[in-house]
Amino acid sequence: MAPKILGIVGSYRKGCVIDTLVSTALSAAKEAGATTSKIYLQDKHIEFCINCRQCTQEPGTMYGQCIHHDDMASILQEIESSDGIVLGAPVNFFNVTAIMRRFMERLVCYAYWPWGHHAPQLRNKVKNKRAVLITATAMPAFFGRLLTGAVRALKITAEVLHAKTVATIFAGTIADTEHPTVPLKFIQQAQKAGRKLLA
Ligand SMILES: Cc1cc2nc3c(=O)[nH]c(=O)nc-3n(C[C@H](O)[C@H](O)[C@H](O)COP(=O)(O)O)c2cc1C
Repeated sequence: MAPKILGIVGSYRKGCVIDTLVSTALSAAKEAGATTSKIYLQDKHIEFCINCRQCTQEPGTMYGQCIHHDDMASILQEIESSDGIVLGAPVNFFNVTAIMRRFMERLVCYAYWPWGHHAPQLRNKVKNKRAVLITATAMPAFFGRLLTGAVRALKITAEVLHAKTVATIFAGTIADTEHPTVPLKFIQQAQKAGRKLLA
């Protein structure tokens, strides 16, 4: 069966930098033999985590049940059935976007953290997927890597989702025009990264 690669877009702008690079990585993966799909977090109904920790109370290797009944359940099912993920979010105020963080916070269900335990414990430390991380900034990538928490946030997200990061794309200096054309070097990085998801 063809490997399944899922793209998760945490940008607010369809067709802009992050969406373009996620799509490019997915297309390259498809050309290499994968089946691909893409989720726009902004199109999904995702409630905020309210820190009730109900989903973390019961032991077990599978993620816990959330009190919310929204699109997160189907998103998690899609992630679980995928072999690779592409996580994309631009930098807003020195970290990933609020919609990406809202999604990330809901991943606390991957932890066992009953009341009385000081810290959460990842239920399952297996790494059976690959991940490509994509972010973008107005500032040059050098400063973006140094001064923002975006790559770290995306990397932790990948880890929680049992994915080993195989490539990171940092598209810096990319906010000078309303509809920026994504430079060829980032497109090529995304193509290479997409192929790495299957290699
Ligand atoms: C509200 C807001 C906050 C931003 N904060 C930062 C920032 O802290 N650092 C930075 O380098 N760029 C920042 N940017 C620029 C975006 O990261 C950049 O425009 C990115 O390309 C947007 O991704 P998109 O093209 O997928 O929408 C910000 C943009 C907006 C609108």
